[in-house]
Amino acid sequence: MSLMRLAYASEATFEAKPVEQGVEPHVARILMTSRRNNAKTELVGGLYYGDDHFFQYLEGEEAEVRKTYQRILSDDRHRNVRTLIEEPLTGRTFSSWSMKYVPASADVRSFLSSHGLDRFNPMDFSRRQCEEMIELIRQSSQDQKLVNHDDPAVSRSKPAAFSPVVRTGLVIAAVGLIGALAYAGTML
Ligand SMILES: Cc1cc2nc3c(=O)[nH]c(=O)nc-3n(C[C@H](O)[C@H](O)[C@H](O)COP(=O)(O)O)c2cc1C
Repeated sequence: MSLMRLAYASEATFEAKPVEQGVEPHVARILMTSRRNNAKTELVGGLYYGDDHFFQYLEGEEAEVRKTYQRILSDDRHRNVRTLIEEPLTGRTFSSWSMKYVPASADVRSFLSSHGLDRFNPMDFSRRQCEEMIELIRQSSQDQKLVNHDDPAVSRSKPAAFSPVVRTGLVIAAVGLIGALAYAGTML
């Protein structure tokens, strides 16, 4: 049983939607699946998404890391996956996280500006920048409660509101009914 660590960069293929509860909806779905699967296979690490790019760090049993990475590689929600670090590990460096999510934060902005970068483009990260990014993920105390976008209760669309024509019809019918009741009252 040997441990390994892996980091990669990739480009998102989806068009970013407005952030919901702190997380872009596609990314929230990826995190849901990752957390469910990685908890079972005892993989830990972190994911950062920014400027249409992903940076992910994974560590765990070599066989599990490799199996998961194969699935990740064939995922069409991203492309141009570039392996940045792939090496044996003597001991785990992350504790209780199956997949930490680091939101765009002051930490990331200061990491970028300390390297003179104005955009998050991990494809070109040097080894040192990768290690700094991993450390930033490790230290990050921020996390987001995720919305389950696959939950029917969440994805169910709102009932369509009545159209103005139907609404007017209903008002006329209600007025007519009240009038009829009032008239019937006078007959008693
Ligand atoms: C950027 C990115 C990161 C991902 N990270 C993980 C991960 O850490 N663990 C994982 O199981 N799946 C991850 N996935 C999802 C996998 O590609 C794949 O959809 C998933 O493992 C399938 O799991 P399922 O068979 O349980 O649905 C990631 C996908 C993307 C696009």
